[in-house]
Amino acid sequence: MSTENQTDRPVSSAPVLEVKKIVKTFRHVEALRGADFDVRAGEIVGLVGDNGAGKSTLIKTICGVYEPTSGEIFVNGNKVDIDSPSVARGLGIEVVYQDLGLAPDLSAVENLFLGREIIRGGKFGQLFGFLNRRAMLQETNEAMAKFKLEIVKPTREVGTMSGGQQQRVSIVSAAMGEGQVLLLDEPTAALGVEARRRVNDLIRNIRDGGAGVVIISHDLPDLLEIADRIHIMRQGQRVAVLDREDFDLELIVDIMSGAFV
Ligand SMILES: Nc1ncnc2c1ncn2[C@@H]1O[C@H](COP(=O)(O)OP(=O)(O)OP(=O)(O)O)[C@@H](O)[C@H]1O
Ligand SMILES: [Mg+2]
Repeated sequence: MSTENQTDRPVSSAPVLEVKKIVKTFRHVEALRGADFDVRAGEIVGLVGDNGAGKSTLIKTICGVYEPTSGEIFVNGNKVDIDSPSVARGLGIEVVYQDLGLAPDLSAVENLFLGREIIRGGKFGQLFGFLNRRAMLQETNEAMAKFKLEIVKPTREVGTMSGGQQQRVSIVSAAMGEGQVLLLDEPTAALGVEARRRVNDLIRNIRDGGAGVVIISHDLPDLLEIADRIHIMRQGQRVAVLDREDFDLELIVDIMSGAFV
């Protein structure tokens, strides 16, 4: 039997992103207790674990939202110090946060171009940083068409949009970044069936383009469809890594809940 994941795609074995023994404490809470993690170029890793296992904290530590208490992060084998989200972005790490991380008072278009605004040409445009709103709207429309993910009225304030629409803004933003690593924390939780399918297709395309993709999801059947490997976290640590041929829903649930620990 062959599935979409068992093609001849070249998957490099060297990780594009690797995390070694990350510890993150919040006052008395040890959210990460020496967690390891890695994703290779051209693969989708599903990151699973019960509520509170440390998945979102791991993502936010990789993206420079949190400073790790200790531990190391490597990008393409080089040790990096990611002390802000803009550093992460500069390293080609794009993210969709569980809490979306959008600016609610700005429009979808403004959110998509936050930190990478298109400035109008000409002496005054450059001098005063006037935004080229028409160009940004046009690129937004092109991105929505390319990624087959429509945002209704993208000039509207994001804070007035439904949860699913906001999730689309966040996903389009991350996909537009064309990074070498894409981290998605429950990206489709608020989406309907059809939009979910389109996001999964988009994620496969991004993977096939050579990026390393990480998806956090509690929808295990959906994740087992799309992932090339599954990493299981429990109580702030990675406790198991499964390759596709070892995927087994019951086994994963048992490991997540600690039946084997
Ligand atoms: N900013 C914070 N301050 C204090 N404790 C935190 C903070 N963020 C996370 N924690 C704690 O760290 C632990 C891990 O939380 P985290 O959000 O990473 O879990 P998760 O695996 O993403 O869970 P979920 O599936 O519910 O999203 C939890 O005990 C949580 O209460
Ligand atoms: Mg979480």
